[in-house]
Amino acid sequence: MQPAYHKPSYWDTRYTEHPEPLEWYQNYNSLKSHIQSHVYPLHSVLHVGCGNSSLPLEMEKDGYKRIHNIDISAVLIERMIEEMGEGRGGIEWQVMDCRSMEFEDETFDRVLDKGCMDTVLATEESERAGEWIAAALLSHTLVCKSLKTQAHNELGFSLLVHSLAVASYLSHVSRVLRPAGKFILVSLSPPSTNLPFLSNEDFSWNVECTELVKPVIGGEREKMNLSEDPKSAHYLYVCTMGNDCE
Ligand SMILES: C[S@@+](CC[C@H](N)C(=O)[O-])C[C@H]1O[C@@H](n2cnc3c(N)ncnc32)[C@H](O)[C@@H]1O
Repeated sequence: MQPAYHKPSYWDTRYTEHPEPLEWYQNYNSLKSHIQSHVYPLHSVLHVGCGNSSLPLEMEKDGYKRIHNIDISAVLIERMIEEMGEGRGGIEWQVMDCRSMEFEDETFDRVLDKGCMDTVLATEESERAGEWIAAALLSHTLVCKSLKTQAHNELGFSLLVHSLAVASYLSHVSRVLRPAGKFILVSLSPPSTNLPFLSNEDFSWNVECTELVKPVIGGEREKMNLSEDPKSAHYLYVCTMGNDCE
């Protein structure tokens, strides 16, 4: 049984019981060259599901000026504000659910996600399924297409809920990105899982996927991943909106 990754209470409990920093999947050093080729210091960056990753602080040291971090866990965000200070060097922290983002359209140049979409997709059953289905009616084409591709064998209710939640998240990403903006996703899920969502023609994203070497940090591989399969890889997806005319 999967932990209830979709519930704020799961993450609040986790961050209360384990306040020590945990970097999921990949650290800044291993991602730096990829980040620097797609994100420039003056870009306004939305970092979704930030956790207590050191990414924003490392990026600030490298000259990035505008990083807005959101996470569903109020416990986590309160602690980050307490430890880091609000608005320090252009780094901001806010409690927000990525499935219902409150930003204006076209607010950010880049959206960064390391492990957050994976947790949205890992949702088992959702007590808020009705809300997601209502939200999905607004973007039914996207959802139907995603489901058609995903649901070739068993389409369980849980899969429906996962897919709707991801579809809702991605339609917000598309909405808050500026023209020629990029969504940069570090994920455990291979292209066969993620591309049906990311390559949906409703977004007109040009999607590139790169397999990343999986680090073993402190020998505790399983702590870094949602999957315990030691052979599984990490993937970097770079999704560019329309034509990148920078
Ligand atoms: C796998 S952890 C990754 C944390 C961090 N990005 C890292 O790489 O170390 C997933 C994070 O996403 C957050 N999260 C889960 N669901 C979310 C949602 N619906 N909206 C915003 N954040 C969410 C969790 O609180 C958690 O901090």
